[in-house]
Parts: sequence; C-alpha cells; structure tokens
Amino acid sequence: SKSSAFARQLIAWQADHGRHDLPWQNTRDPYRVWLSEIMLQQTQVDTVIPYYQRFLQRFPDVAALAAAPTDDVLALWSGLGYYARARNLQRAAQQVVHEHGGRFPRDAAGLMALPGIGRSTAAAIAAVCHGEAVAILDGNVKRVLTRHFGIEGFPGERAIEQQLWQLAESLVPADDAARYPQAIMDLGATLCTRSKPRCDDCPVKQSCVARRDGRQAELPTRKAR
Ligand code: ADE
Repeated sequence: SKSSAFARQLIAWQADHGRHDLPWQNTRDPYRVWLSEIMLQQTQVDTVIPYYQRFLQRFPDVAALAAAPTDDVLALWSGLGYYARARNLQRAAQQVVHEHGGRFPRDAAGLMALPGIGRSTAAAIAAVCHGEAVAILDGNVKRVLTRHFGIEGFPGERAIEQQLWQLAESLVPADDAARYPQAIMDLGATLCTRSKPRCDDCPVKQSCVARRDGRQAELPTRKAR
C-alpha cells in the first residue's frame, strides 16, 4: 500500500527492539489473543501478566470459560477492575460455543458481533491470528499517529477519531498485517510515551511532524475544558 514505508520501518524496529516475551505473543490462538486484548484494555501490561496466566490455567480454552460458574470467572478477575469486561468475556465465550460451534469468527466483522469486542479489539485478533489487513486504534496507536502525522484536535471527538481510523487503515501493510499491530503498540508503549518520548531512538523520527515542530508534549491534543 502507498504508506507502507511507515509500517515496514516499525516492523523492522520491532524485530530488533520491541517486546518479544509477553505471554500472549508467539500464539495465534484467538482465545489467548482475545483474552490478552480484553485484559489490556484498561490495565497495564505488568499487572495483566499474572492474571492472564492464572486465568488460562483455570480456563484453558473457550469451552472451559463458557461452562464455568460466573462467580469463578469474577473471582479470577478480582483486582483487575471493570468487571463488565469479565461478564462480557464469559457471554462472548458462550456465544462462540453455542452459536459458532466453538470456533471464533475469523474476520473482524464477525468478531465485533461478540459482547465486549469493539472495532480495535476485533482488528487486533483478526490481524494477529489471521493476518487480516485491518487497523487497531487504541490509546498507544492514537498517540503515535497524532504525533507522527501532526493530527490536531481531541481524539475523543467523533470527527478526529474518524480521521484517525481512516489514517490507521491506510497504514496497514497488506503483506505483513499480523506483525504490524505489535510493532505500533510497542513503539507507543516504549518510545513514543506520553511524557519524555525517546525520539532519538525512534525508527520513524525522520518523518515525524511532532518532532519536527517540537510539539510532542502538545499531541495528542487534550480534551478542551
Ligand atoms: N495493549 C493492547 N494490546 C497489547 C499487546 N498485544 N501487547 C502489549 N500491549 C498491548
């Protein structure tokens, strides 16, 4: 695609400098990728890791999760917060088992029909597990894109978010969609951080608008108040 230089640079950087030992990496099992994405929605990586491992030990597959007493699911979630995530998780597992023969829908559109799976989570699963060329747009990705492309305006605003989705979609490399999500997320989590971004080490610093204009601290634009 036209803008794949950006993606290629991020993917090459990720191979050398990204994170490779997170417990949900090195799997293309939709159940594991899905569980990690749900846990990571509102919780930091370091907190998620032990929860993720305990959860998989108790519920090794979607059938085990679907069949469990809800109180057991909530008990394993205890401390993670946002308990609606855990309830939706089990509802989704039950739909997968009872309406999809125990197999997750293979594409992002099908995944989005499950409880608790929004557009970005569906895309992460479809891209990582099946190489579908769809965009993710979580907080880390919004920060990378608003800075790199100099997108002004609060990303929570509908028009700005729509612009970001369009941009994000245009950047997905058709031939390497499975690797790209972890690359852009790792960049946002480790270099293009909210405060004190490490621009000197960034693989796409040459083309970054925020760095050129010294606007890293102003982007993404904060909510008007
Ligand atoms: N945040 C959301 N998804 C993630 C992933 N796969 N790895 C690290 N952080 C994430």
